[in-house]
Amino acid sequence: MKKILVTGSRGQIGSELVRKLRETYGASNIIATDIRKMDDDHKEGPFEVVDVTDSDRLFTVAKEHNVDTIMHLAALLSATAEAMPKVAWDLNMGGLINALEVARELDLQFFTPSSIGAFGPSTPKDNTPQDTLQRPTTMYGVNKVAGELLCDYYYSRYGVDTRGVRYPGLISHVTPPGGGTTDYAVEIYYEAVKNKAYTSYIGEGTSMDMMYMPDALNAIIQLMEADPGKLEHRNAFNISAIAAAPEDFGKAIQKYIPEFKLSYEVDPIRQTIAESWPNSIDSSAAAKEWGFKVEYDLDKMTKEMLDRLTEKNK
Ligand code: SER
Repeated sequence: MKKILVTGSRGQIGSELVRKLRETYGASNIIATDIRKMDDDHKEGPFEVVDVTDSDRLFTVAKEHNVDTIMHLAALLSATAEAMPKVAWDLNMGGLINALEVARELDLQFFTPSSIGAFGPSTPKDNTPQDTLQRPTTMYGVNKVAGELLCDYYYSRYGVDTRGVRYPGLISHVTPPGGGTTDYAVEIYYEAVKNKAYTSYIGEGTSMDMMYMPDALNAIIQLMEADPGKLEHRNAFNISAIAAAPEDFGKAIQKYIPEFKLSYEVDPIRQTIAESWPNSIDSSAAAKEWGFKVEYDLDKMTKEMLDRLTEKNK
């Protein structure tokens, strides 16, 4: 992994991943791409406008920059995908197969994230195993399962070095997510700092897996640097950090902002999606095969989120 092209680099994961990769591998070796024009976040290194549904453009940019790795992040999240299923299929699947084709033709290492959304109501809900039933009931989930299978196919059929993780909800103070079911767990911190109150669209008692962004970024680098001989799985590894419901976030915030008030106004669409996903997932395969571990639990993350957002608000 010496020269890396990142798609969707202005998204929630991409904006922070590009920064981290540039610190680790050198700014000029990270080619940030997005369908949107460059913003201030990306000006320390190369940036190209790329629509991942345009396979020729993706191929040309990858070839011109002589990259050896693609990290393919461009995708729609679960709630948006549910509102626009055909658009989601075209972008999530069309973009993925274009990126995989570029990896095959140019012999590149490949990463793309899967999600807890790849599980469905018939999946065991607690400590969900690495290998289990995957019958999701959302368009996003259908895309993620198909994506996992497609990446495994490119590995077994063409020998493309594809690797992936099933991300839980990702929490960060830098770029807000958009259109996801787990977004409440980010909004709650912004609102806690601004208004000392939050109305959750996910109901009390609905637990989902979550993770703080620095752990999520370290996981990508660790997995991509892992010895391929040790990988029994590839697409995609369960990884988890914090299994929590809205009231768990509420209590964690009240430790630092005692007057914080949490109320509920449940959105039936996102609630249904959340209920179809696991409460917590088992990441022991990732730990065993490539040493996955996290640094942040709910309390440590909460403290840092509140500190950083308070600084930002000044
Ligand atoms: N955070 C994502 C979503 O809510 C899950 O992968 O859509």
